[in-house]
Amino acid sequence: MSDTEPGITPAGHTPYSAWIQTDVLHTLQRPVSNHPGEHAWITSVQVSELYWMLIIREIETAQRQLRADDLPQACRTLERIVAHHVPLNATWKSIAWMTPTDLLSILSRAVETYGKDTALQGWTYRQMVYLLGIRQEEHLQHFTPQPARWQQLNQVLSEPSLYDDVLAYLDRAGFAVPAAVRVRDYRQPYVPTTAVEQVWRDIYGNAALSPDLRRLGETLADIAEGFAEWKHLHLMATRRTFGHRAAYFGTEGIAWLRPTLDELPFPELWSARGMIGDPPAACPHMHKRERT
Ligand code: HEM
Repeated sequence: MSDTEPGITPAGHTPYSAWIQTDVLHTLQRPVSNHPGEHAWITSVQVSELYWMLIIREIETAQRQLRADDLPQACRTLERIVAHHVPLNATWKSIAWMTPTDLLSILSRAVETYGKDTALQGWTYRQMVYLLGIRQEEHLQHFTPQPARWQQLNQVLSEPSLYDDVLAYLDRAGFAVPAAVRVRDYRQPYVPTTAVEQVWRDIYGNAALSPDLRRLGETLADIAEGFAEWKHLHLMATRRTFGHRAAYFGTEGIAWLRPTLDELPFPELWSARGMIGDPPAACPHMHKRERT
């Protein structure tokens, strides 16, 4: 059969409904309250779930491309993740109308229907975070009721993150990434080193090196920024709708969330920035004053 030859549409479908699975998709929003905004809440969270899964797939693809030393294709894949963060972060707009009364009238019905929930029970977000290199084993505790998901996350936790694959690639490309950084227990939190900081300084400081290496660094920085922006928008939404109430662990929700804003992926890519580029001989404003 040639590529252009039409296929067989399954009975009861149009080609569009068969491909996009619209009939299944639109059975998945099942409100528990009679609040008119709950559909927007469920849709917004489900869309976020889909984007987290999409980002997981893209990261796994980029890891395979880096392992095959295909830097240009890995950069293209990572650039798609930067693009996905735009609609993902825009999902907050869809629920920005919520007041504390709106949120609590929906949440109270969800608790009555399904029990006490927390988004920490969401495995896609956790898998994405593990793949980005932020390794916190304690979050596995939420998945004991879902043994297959617990197993899946446990597996991801013990394998290299995207950042580990970037550093392994850079080592193969001739940069001095210490063996202790490359061969380690991936379950443990990543510990930044001055040696890796020096690698990023070299990549940005040496114009003779391939521009694709700086493209890699800038794309990773864009991904970290998109991720941090989501966390900021989430914290602001929590401030708007929840205030200082006690959350899942009994601690104040905002106080629990605030430190997570410092969980920035690819740490040396950021710390090296204080040392990249030649400092000007003097403050440019001083020059201006001297000239006038
Ligand atoms: C606007 C109302 C929201 C409030 C008040 C809120 C509140 C919180 C709080 C207090 C936590 C800390 C853990 C806990 O105590 O449960 C948390 C974590 C989390 N929430 Fe929300 N949330 C809101 C909306 C959302 C939405 C719409 C999503 C998904 C699209 C989401 C996803 C998450 C995730 C992924 C975490 C884990 C964050 C991390 O590990 O850094 N939240 N949320």
